[in-house]
Amino acid sequence: LTDTYELSNGVKIPIIGFGTWQTPNGDVAYQSTLDALAAGYRHIDTAAIYGNEESIGQAIIDSGIDRKELFITSKLWNDRHSFEGAQAALEESLNKLQLDYLDLYLIHWPNPVDIRDNWQLANAETWRAMEHAYESGKVRAIGISNFQPHHFESLLETAKVTPQVNQLFVNPSDLETDAVTFNQRHNTLTEAYSPLATNRLLKVPELIAIGEKYGKSAAQVTLRWSLQHGFLPLPKSTHQERIVQNTQLFDFDLTPEDMAKIDALSGVAGLHTNPDETDF
Ligand code: A2P
Repeated sequence: LTDTYELSNGVKIPIIGFGTWQTPNGDVAYQSTLDALAAGYRHIDTAAIYGNEESIGQAIIDSGIDRKELFITSKLWNDRHSFEGAQAALEESLNKLQLDYLDLYLIHWPNPVDIRDNWQLANAETWRAMEHAYESGKVRAIGISNFQPHHFESLLETAKVTPQVNQLFVNPSDLETDAVTFNQRHNTLTEAYSPLATNRLLKVPELIAIGEKYGKSAAQVTLRWSLQHGFLPLPKSTHQERIVQNTQLFDFDLTPEDMAKIDALSGVAGLHTNPDETDF
């Protein structure tokens, strides 16, 4: 769990992160974050819109773990796509988390409904604020989330810093091949949110059968598949035994044949996100 990928700016990032989307603020976020840290996670992924930054921040402090050993990500929500908005949003996240700096800050969505007429300019201005924060040391790395190639390309027209991360909904059912290839071309790490497709993959018979060969669950097979593709999975759980289970991925290797079988499951969970058609 302390193995790392290296971002394009040299910053090291633990190869699994603890996902916290849909984890409610309060006791649940607090306790599950403590459980994750006790299980060895050193990378926690949250976002302003998740509403749980305060409890996660408190758990981080109470864990007693040295800040320098942790990698903390948050994301800017859709109502902050401007230079000033992004600066204020970062300060709010830092305050809620009780941190002096973030390891990674992401633009959550490229194309919120409110800026759909001028998302290119809004993203360029937002990115300028992210670059300022990066240069000032308030964040160690900056990136994007849910950016398809046309959003990414538009950002690059004015960006001074190429996004170091693009966090996508990528899993055996949704391979996001174009976006992943675009990321690779720009030396941008692909993080995988909801790597279990919000648990829809766990009953897929092919994944269960492959898992039986290795003595692993469908969840573990799916997370191992993500790692073997070079993605950084961010599994979410609020149950301690699952939090632990999702770290036990380093005592087996999926064969190339099994990787190909899993790739062929594309579409099986019936979920896909088009950032140009969201209603938020
Ligand atoms: P819970 O939080 O109740 O443990 P994703 O990371 O793709 O969004 O998936 C999260 C969902 O999958 C949650 O519903 C979570 O449930 C469930 N989950 C996470 N890890 C496991 C696991 N190892 N086994 C079964 N369900 C899991």
